[in-house]
Amino acid sequence: MALPLRIAIVGAGPAAMYAVGHLLDSDEIEPDIDIFERLPNPWGLVRTGVAPDHPEKKRIVDRLFDFYFRDSRVRFFGNVEIGVHLGHTELAQWYDAVIYAVGAGSDTRMRIPGEELPGCWAAREFVGFYNGHPDHRHLEFDLSCERALVIGNGNVALDIARILTMPVAELERTDIADHALDALRRSAVREVVVLGRRGILQAAFHNPELEELTHLDGVDVIIEGQDLPGEDDILDERSSWEVRRKVAMLKWMSGRRSHRENKRIVLRFLASPVELNGNRKVEEVVIGHNRIERDEQGIPTATPTDERSVLHAGLVLRAIGYRGMPFPGLPFDEHRGVIRNVAGRVVDVHGPVLGAYVTGWIKRGCRGVIGSNKKCAHETVEALIDDARKNRLRHAKLSKDTVATLIKRKHPDVVSRADWLAIDRSEKDAGRVTARPRIKKTDIPSMLACARDHALISKSI
Ligand SMILES: Cc1cc2nc3c(=O)[nH]c(=O)nc-3n(C[C@H](O)[C@H](O)[C@H](O)COP(=O)(O)OP(=O)(O)OC[C@H]3O[C@@H](n4cnc5c(N)ncnc54)[C@H](O)[C@@H]3O)c2cc1C
Ligand SMILES: NC(=O)c1ccc[n+]([C@@H]2O[C@H](COP(=O)([O-])OP(=O)(O)OC[C@H]3O[C@@H](n4cnc5c(N)ncnc54)[C@H](OP(=O)(O)O)[C@@H]3O)[C@@H](O)[C@H]2O)c1
Repeated sequence: MALPLRIAIVGAGPAAMYAVGHLLDSDEIEPDIDIFERLPNPWGLVRTGVAPDHPEKKRIVDRLFDFYFRDSRVRFFGNVEIGVHLGHTELAQWYDAVIYAVGAGSDTRMRIPGEELPGCWAAREFVGFYNGHPDHRHLEFDLSCERALVIGNGNVALDIARILTMPVAELERTDIADHALDALRRSAVREVVVLGRRGILQAAFHNPELEELTHLDGVDVIIEGQDLPGEDDILDERSSWEVRRKVAMLKWMSGRRSHRENKRIVLRFLASPVELNGNRKVEEVVIGHNRIERDEQGIPTATPTDERSVLHAGLVLRAIGYRGMPFPGLPFDEHRGVIRNVAGRVVDVHGPVLGAYVTGWIKRGCRGVIGSNKKCAHETVEALIDDARKNRLRHAKLSKDTVATLIKRKHPDVVSRADWLAIDRSEKDAGRVTARPRIKKTDIPSMLACARDHALISKSI
C-alpha cells in the first residue's frame, strides 16, 4: 500500500518542480505537496534568469512545470518567504518532510580593490533587472558609457553580452521587462569585453551559446589575448569534440570581416581584473595577464604574470558565479555555499536532520542547466522515500486545512495557484496585443492587485 506523505517544498524553481514530478510519479507514496515560494510567481530562474531571447526554452519548461503545478495533490503558497513569514521549525512540525530548493540568493565576490565602486555590479542584479525580478527592478544601471566589461566567460556572461549589444527591435518582441527596454533604448554601449581568466580551451561558455553570438545583427565578435590553439593543443584536452567545435567556431568567427559601424563583443582570454579605479564610479579596470599552468591533478589553472594593461569601462558586471545563502535553522557549508547535505539529506554535526532535504543549486552549488536539476531532484526524492519506507520521518502534526488557515492568518497576502494563473493570463493577454510572449508585472503590489481583481470577478460571476 502506498504511504501517505505530507511534504513541503520551499522554492518553486526547476529543482522544486522536478522534485514535485518525481514525488507525483512514485508508486510507493501518496503525496500531498505544499509549495512555498517567496515571489508571487513560480518557476525561479526560468522566469528571472533565462534570457528573454530564449523563449522556446521557457515555453517547453513552462509547459512541463505547469502540468505538475495543476495536479490536485499540489498546493501553492506564493509570496511566502520561509525564514521570514514562517520558519524551518514550523514546517518541520507541520509536515512529514521538507525539501529546500531555494537556489542562490547571492553571488561570488572578486575580492579586488575597487569592487565596491558604483558602476560595478553582480551579473545577478543586471539579469534580475532585465528579467523583471521584483528585487532588482529599481536598480539604475548607467549605460551611458561606450564600453562595458563582463568578468567571467560562462553562459551568464554571454547572455549579458548579447542583451547589451542586440538590436532593441529584437528585444521588443520578447518578455524582457519594460523598464529594461527603456534603459536599453537609451544605451550608449557599443563594446562589451568578456574577460576569461583562463584560455580558449578552458572557456566556460557552451558551444550553442557561443554560436548564438554569430547570429546577432550588427555585432562583430573579436577574439583577443591568445592565439587560436593548434591541433596539438586540442588533442591534449580531455573533452575533445566539444573543445574542437569551440575552437573551430572561434576560428570561423575570427576570419569574418568586421565593420566599423558595428557593435563589438570582445572575447578576451588569459585576463583577470586586478583593480577597479575611478572618481566616485568605475572608470577603468587594471587587467592582469595570465598564463596556463597545470596543478597536481593536471587541471589547467590561470597563473598571474606581471604584465598589466588598462581598459576604460563605465560598467563592470561580474559574472563569476551565483552563490547560495545560509538558511536560518539549517547547517551551511560556507566554502561551497550550500546547505550541508549528503546526497540530498540535510546533515549537521550529529548526522541527518530529521525530515529535511535539499535539491538544486542550494544542494550542489550554482552550476548546471535546467535539466541537470532533474537528476539532482531524483536523488533527493529517492532518499526521502527511502527514509519514509524505513519509518525515519517525523509525522505531520497538522491537517492540510489547518495549515492553510494558519498560513493565511500569519500572512494574508499569500498567492494561491488560482491567483498565479490569473496573473499569468493577464501578462500573456497584455503581451498578445503587441505580439510579445507576455508583459511581465515586475512589482509585487501590482501582481497582488491583479490576483485580487480576478478573485472579485470570479466571486461576482
Ligand atoms: C542568468 C541565468 C540564465 C540561465 N539560463 C539558462 C538557460 O537558458 N537554460 C538552462 O538550461 N539553464 C539556464 N540557467 C540555469 C538554471 O536556471 C538553473 O539550473 C536552475 O534555475 C536552478 O534551479 P533551482 O531550482 O535550484 O534554483 P532557482 O531557479 O533559483 O529557484 C529557487 C526558487 O526558490 C525561491 N526561494 C528562495 N528563497 C526562498 C525562501 N526563503 N522561501 C521561499 N522561496 C524561496 C526563489 O524565489 C526561486 O523561485 C541559467 C541560470 C542563470 C543564473
Ligand atoms: N543558456 C544556458 O543554457 C545557460 C545560460 C546561463 C547559465 N547557464 C548555466 O548556469 C550555470 C552558472 O553559469 P555562470 O555563467 O554563472 O557560471 P560558470 O559557467 O561557472 O562561469 C563562471 C565564470 O567565472 C569565472 N570565474 C570564477 N571566479 C572568478 C574570479 N575570481 N575571477 C575571474 N573569473 C572567475 C570562471 O572561470 P574558470 O572557468 O576559470 O573557473 C568562469 O569563466 C552554468 O552551469 C551555466 O551553464 C546556462
